[in-house]
Amino acid sequence: MKLNAYFNDIKESYLFAEVGARSAAYAKAHPDKKVLKLGIGDVTLPLAPAVIEALHGAVDEMSESATFKGYGPYEGYEFLRESIKNYYVTYGVKVGLDEIFVSDGAKSDLGNILDIFAKDNTILVPDPVYPVYVDTNLMAGRKVIYACANAQNGFLPMPDYSVKADIIYICSPNNPTGAAYSPAQLKEWVAYANKLGAVILYDAAYECFITDNDTARSIFQIEGARTCAIEFCSFSKIAGFTGTRCGYTVIPHELEKDSLNANKMWLRRQATKFNGVPYIVQKGAAAVFTEEGQKQIKENIAYYRRNAKLIADCMDRLGIWYTGGKNSPYIWLKCPNGMGSWEFFDYLLENAQVVGTPGAGFGQNGEGYFRLTAFGSQEVTQEAVSRIENLLKK
Ligand code: MLT
Repeated sequence: MKLNAYFNDIKESYLFAEVGARSAAYAKAHPDKKVLKLGIGDVTLPLAPAVIEALHGAVDEMSESATFKGYGPYEGYEFLRESIKNYYVTYGVKVGLDEIFVSDGAKSDLGNILDIFAKDNTILVPDPVYPVYVDTNLMAGRKVIYACANAQNGFLPMPDYSVKADIIYICSPNNPTGAAYSPAQLKEWVAYANKLGAVILYDAAYECFITDNDTARSIFQIEGARTCAIEFCSFSKIAGFTGTRCGYTVIPHELEKDSLNANKMWLRRQATKFNGVPYIVQKGAAAVFTEEGQKQIKENIAYYRRNAKLIADCMDRLGIWYTGGKNSPYIWLKCPNGMGSWEFFDYLLENAQVVGTPGAGFGQNGEGYFRLTAFGSQEVTQEAVSRIENLLKK
């Protein structure tokens, strides 16, 4: 037997596991201190009442033989895919029912999608980057190259035609930086991908935080994207499903190469390795798109937006440079006084008992930066902001 030696190429622990372990060790050593967590982007508000009602209803259905459900369709129930299709229409995008695949979340699909791509593809990711894109490729032995995202380009790198890539990851609004591409900028990425015959893996998990019309909600709003893009979406951030687990991936029929069709391959892959998301969960997810559901989740998103504003206003008062916070639940800030990311992590933990995520954990270009999330409760966010302000204004 041989184990996968490519695991030697990734860090021993996943970034958020490391952050969790360090803050847990601090809390254990200081039981008298209250540690406030603005690290991992995990939601804190409960599921919307419309979702809860749908979940209960589905549980009841499972108790009667007339309505009981066993294995569901690999691609997800039609009632949910229909709702997703109609949701896309609200921002002017037409996708086919059989182009939508329901999954247990964007993170899983972003890793699993690699099954349909050859091993010798070159992967282009921005730096800093959500570690899942890098680690899943390194685990499979693929070559990963980086597009430099920095303060000069507003953490939104643009295509460089001297760079040859096969698979390009774009996350907008971005995790971790909160920066978001305009349709004009995405048009350049689509043109680049089509020219190279590359594919864009577009992570739209934070789409619901977009507040203005200058920011793209979907890669499929861009002409030409259907021949070069796959989009990954999630119910985690839009509707608090981080623990409930549901997402969806859109693969247009036009995405093909050498007589292989990505949409068909993905269905084949899912049918082989995945038995679908529980019926109960899909019923809950569909309730997100009802009139009531939309009203309720929008209130929740507004709550997180107010948190983001609390953090951003604090950075403004302290004169600290940051991106995000506007079309995003993340605030990506420059560590004060030239501190390194992990140095600032320790400083904040030890002196204010606030946990954030060190930018260096997202890549080399993240060194010297730090991420705070707006997904905490309002009380925790307010308290964390006042502790940070008291500490840093000194
Ligand atoms: C994050 O904090 O970056 C996210 O919660 C991670 C995720 O969505 O998997």
